[in-house]
Amino acid sequence: MRSHSAAPPAPGAFVTGTDTDVGKTLVSAILVKAWQADYWKPYQTGVADACSDTDTVAALLGPGGHTLHPPACILQAPLAPWAAARLEGVALNAADLRLPRTQAPLVVEGAGGLYVPIDERHMMLDLAARLGLPLVLVTRSTLGTINHTLLSLQALAARQLPVMGVIMNGPLSPGNRKALEHFGHTRILAEIPPLPRVDAAAIARMAAGIPPLASILPSPPPCRSQPDGITKNYTSAHPLPAQGFSNHKSI
Ligand SMILES: Nc1ncnc2c1ncn2[C@@H]1O[C@H](COP(=O)(O)OP(=O)(O)OP(=O)(O)O)[C@@H](O)[C@H]1O
Ligand SMILES: [Mg+2]
Repeated sequence: MRSHSAAPPAPGAFVTGTDTDVGKTLVSAILVKAWQADYWKPYQTGVADACSDTDTVAALLGPGGHTLHPPACILQAPLAPWAAARLEGVALNAADLRLPRTQAPLVVEGAGGLYVPIDERHMMLDLAARLGLPLVLVTRSTLGTINHTLLSLQALAARQLPVMGVIMNGPLSPGNRKALEHFGHTRILAEIPPLPRVDAAAIARMAAGIPPLASILPSPPPCRSQPDGITKNYTSAHPLPAQGFSNHKSI
């Protein structure tokens, strides 16, 4: 497994989602375009029957000087990293992972959702905690999103991870947007409608509606060198914080 030697000087975002296939790669490409950021997908699975997310982002951005850092680990099976690695006899340890060195902001795309196992001891949630980047949560806009989104926000709040906001993907749903803002105490950063063509022009159009990174970064910036963020109790219940999960109210 490849690891990198140093944390970047520039900030960025960890893009997670309520599910697999929810639109994290599409949104990551939009954020990279909007923030002139680098992109990194540390754990890439499923390359046996689909192209990698890094290749997809490259295609969606087109030529333009963005730096796409190669995955730390590429696995064949379309499974969680923990399961795909077992099939290939690969030993993963998320504690070994280091952020690539960057000058630009860095957009990191997780695999699946927050409770996707990477190895015997770490979930995607733990990786987000270790890397120390504030999070963007990609959700579906459609029926079911209230439950999935609030559960994800609660998991992040329980670990006190900073959430910059939610990006809703799919047909516009003012009702669901209102519910997520009200019950999730979160900010909807953008709504991405169904795109007739998923191409560089559409990415550029959507990127124009993304708030500047500096305007949504938590203040003070999150600490990059958190102690080992191992999820110790996957079932503990944490009440929804009355004042919200992130610092969005101060933006
Ligand atoms: N708003 C949209 N309009 C049209 N197509 C979309 C939209 N959002 C996502 N898609 C398509 O849905 C599929 C899944 O999206 P995407 O690959 O971004 O999901 P993901 O969350 O990154 O999945 P994974 O968990 O595998 O990384 C892709 O083919 C993508 O082009
Ligand atoms: Mg993806």
